[in-house]
Amino acid sequence: MNFTHRVSIIGGGGNVGAAVAFALVVMQLPVEILLLGASEKSARAQALDIRDAAHFSTAHCRAGTSEEVGCSDIIVITAGARQRPGEPRSNLIDRNYVILDSIIKKIQPIKPTAIILMVTNPVDVLTSLAQKLSGLPKSQVIGSGTFLDSGRLRNYLSRKLNVNSNSIHASMLGEHGDTQFVGWSVASIAGSPLLKHPLMANVDLAEIENAIAHQAYEIIEAKGSTYFGVGYHVAALIKCILTDGHKIYPVCNYNAKYDTYLSVPAILGSDGATPINLNLSDEEEVKLERCAESVNHSLGQVNE
Ligand code: 2OP
Repeated sequence: MNFTHRVSIIGGGGNVGAAVAFALVVMQLPVEILLLGASEKSARAQALDIRDAAHFSTAHCRAGTSEEVGCSDIIVITAGARQRPGEPRSNLIDRNYVILDSIIKKIQPIKPTAIILMVTNPVDVLTSLAQKLSGLPKSQVIGSGTFLDSGRLRNYLSRKLNVNSNSIHASMLGEHGDTQFVGWSVASIAGSPLLKHPLMANVDLAEIENAIAHQAYEIIEAKGSTYFGVGYHVAALIKCILTDGHKIYPVCNYNAKYDTYLSVPAILGSDGATPINLNLSDEEEVKLERCAESVNHSLGQVNE
């Protein structure tokens, strides 16, 4: 079969990479999915398992080589050490920078129009490093960022307001880490400010923000890692890129104001991410600045 697009997943032998691949298969995208893992055996096993489901789908999945990955349309990176229970994502930077560096060297030459989609944590810091290491234009290197956290938020609000989450516009912003915050001032439902909704009158906003920002910790504590939620969200980003969807998603993208990568809404299409203007409140701008400082601080600690 001839496929129009090729999506490669580095870390394809692990749970997150496999969850992304499986979600792509379920979404019925006409793509060839290549899995590359630290061990050839694990990537091949995941590919065979997913292929058993993929005959129902328009997608095809197989193990790939480093050369094939480099010339893919989208290169997803999920490889890396994962958080231990209670450990913040920022702790992973040294271990995962070394892994990222070796990955980018291994997949050279990278197709000049490729999009790198970073998923490994700390994702905002590693997205910035992936851009530097790959040399691709900033718009072509993005990270899954707070898209998953935003999904968690909308899911929570959907249950609270009894409205489908697709009809609620609300995002977690800043950093896919402990400093993330809700952009309440720009959140809306049916064109009205979300905070004016009667059911939002007596809610503790700080409590919601804290619960969403720490939701992954509860899952990691109980089952070791998160993968279904992130897998589906990353597949949704891939679909938007491949279909040139121009949807506005809170993803990790280059922010000229703070000269760093941050998770804020951007228009996502086949060229990558195009930033949009955000009209945050002064208090939220301060929070965004704090996130930028946190990302830049971590970047400063990396021994490149
Ligand atoms: C998550 O939020 C651990 O970053 C991962 O699910």
